[in-house]
Amino acid sequence: MCGIVGGIAQRDLREILIEGLRRLEYRGYDSAGLVLIQPDQRLQRCRRLGKVQALAEAVAAEGLSGSLGLAHTRWATHGAPSEQNAHPHLSGDQVALVHNGIIENYQELRSAQRAAGHSFSSETDTEVIVHAIADQMDQGHDLLQALQGTLGQLKGAYALGVICQAEPERLVAARHGSPLVIGLGFGEHFIASDMAALLPVTQRFIILEEGDIAELSRDGVKVYDAELRPVERPVHESRLSADAVERGEYRHFMLKEIHEQPRALADTLEGRLSADCLLISAFGYAAEELLGRVRAVQIVACGTSYHAGLTARYWIERYCGLPCSVEVASEFRYRQPVVLADCLFVSISQSGETADTLAALRQAKQLGYVASLAICNVAESALVRESDLVLLTHAGPEIGVASTKAFTTQLAALLLLLGALGRSRGLIGCDEIELVAQLRSLPGLCERILQLDEPIRALAEAFVDKQHALFLGRGSLYPIALEGSLKLKEISYIHAEAYPAGELKHGPLALIDEDMPVVAVAPNNALLDKLKANLEEVRARGGQLYVFADEAVCLSETGEGYTVLALPHSAQLVAPIAYTLPLQLLAYHVAVLKGTDVDQPRNLAKSVTVE
Ligand code: F6R
Repeated sequence: MCGIVGGIAQRDLREILIEGLRRLEYRGYDSAGLVLIQPDQRLQRCRRLGKVQALAEAVAAEGLSGSLGLAHTRWATHGAPSEQNAHPHLSGDQVALVHNGIIENYQELRSAQRAAGHSFSSETDTEVIVHAIADQMDQGHDLLQALQGTLGQLKGAYALGVICQAEPERLVAARHGSPLVIGLGFGEHFIASDMAALLPVTQRFIILEEGDIAELSRDGVKVYDAELRPVERPVHESRLSADAVERGEYRHFMLKEIHEQPRALADTLEGRLSADCLLISAFGYAAEELLGRVRAVQIVACGTSYHAGLTARYWIERYCGLPCSVEVASEFRYRQPVVLADCLFVSISQSGETADTLAALRQAKQLGYVASLAICNVAESALVRESDLVLLTHAGPEIGVASTKAFTTQLAALLLLLGALGRSRGLIGCDEIELVAQLRSLPGLCERILQLDEPIRALAEAFVDKQHALFLGRGSLYPIALEGSLKLKEISYIHAEAYPAGELKHGPLALIDEDMPVVAVAPNNALLDKLKANLEEVRARGGQLYVFADEAVCLSETGEGYTVLALPHSAQLVAPIAYTLPLQLLAYHVAVLKGTDVDQPRNLAKSVTVE
């Protein structure tokens, strides 16, 4: 998704802005650009299709420099990826602007501006904003007033940074629906889409709230509400160091993040477990009383986070006896759900800025849920700020576009939720002591599974030339099969689907032949014999089976077309987390062998802040 960095300083900002863009690369983008007010007061802009590195080389070759500037990575929504559509956009040689979000009424504004004599140099929805600001300035408003006057004309979502030639002493910014933070320095101040972009220059941040407008000069920062009344916003100290988002010795961020899972899981559980029980206060003030009233659960999320929700449904219904529905946020937000009495609304999101999930939460607040709970990895995100209860996953920054450690820590957080919901009514067939013991086993168990990296890499070779793959699981392992297939398709571009294994004979069995590898996850649980029978159906039709199975499971049928990789035993509740790891490694190694862009797969963005 688009990324913004900007700043005003005493020193030259070229390298700081480029480094900021590099740190936003993980969000996904197709082009990049930068504008600086030159020492001679001219706005000088440079844009490139493709990687930030190409932009860095171009700005160095063109000798751009200046202490007031804006930079941007674009992820195309309106208009193809091209240099012309890349940001910053200019109005004449006066005003420059970067934008993250979508302006829904841009056609109407564009027609009016065209009629008034503006010509357009891009196909974007963004260009109307910069012309509107220039028009306001022509009417005698200063840059801040012009920005505020323009915001009233816009429908949609935006984070904006604006500078102009006539006012080389300030940068203005605004936020509505897309994230924007301000980084506070000494004699220099910055804006960015997220803190990671600015960690080399500051650890102190203001997080702009919905509707905020900000004015940055070298001397200070002022924040206003939508009517330009000054407002106070707290300053947050980030605990992240600049190298928290470095790749280190790993070839890709995704591999680093897969291997960080034992630590991420331990951090997520830290402070939330005593010797033999859960600490429900971890969910927030009044959590114990609120969760005790819950009689039903509605989970909403997107993508990988949705798969975490699907897994939790098996747990919540099986062990708490509570009805639990799970829905993708983009569907939930546009229908009229029937809300059960005393229903808890749970949103799950790595970023906490996913537009659909955020909109679903806002809709839910009108619908009479007993409370809203966010399970999220970013403490400063809109989802966290707008929810009644919060359980943070402590996965640390996730840079690879394909979610890995965020997913397994979400599952751990959902097991904590299971325990918290079970506290007042008792868990069925499992007690809190057993749940805590299983959670505590997780980091060590995951360490042992990650040692299977080499055999999984070898197995990946069988997938490189394939066009399709099928993933199978049963019960709470079915969502894990879904997640495995999503990982494979998004980073290796191999078409992959997942089915509950019992569903095979109702259609997908027709696809089975030697060119369709079938991956199955087979922990030692009550459904194992059923799963084995389903695998036989595949084998009988010439399918190639790759089974991740509990070491105690005897799959005597192994041989031609039947490859089994034994995993250390995992207890029932944590098996979905344990079996996710080999599927992540499989997808990773297939992608590396295929030579795709593992950390930034084509067409995808990390944080989907537009609808
Ligand atoms: C897939 C992936 C996406 C995200 C989805 C939701 O690997 O990362 O499917 O899970 O875009 O993002 P969050 O969790 O940030 O709301």
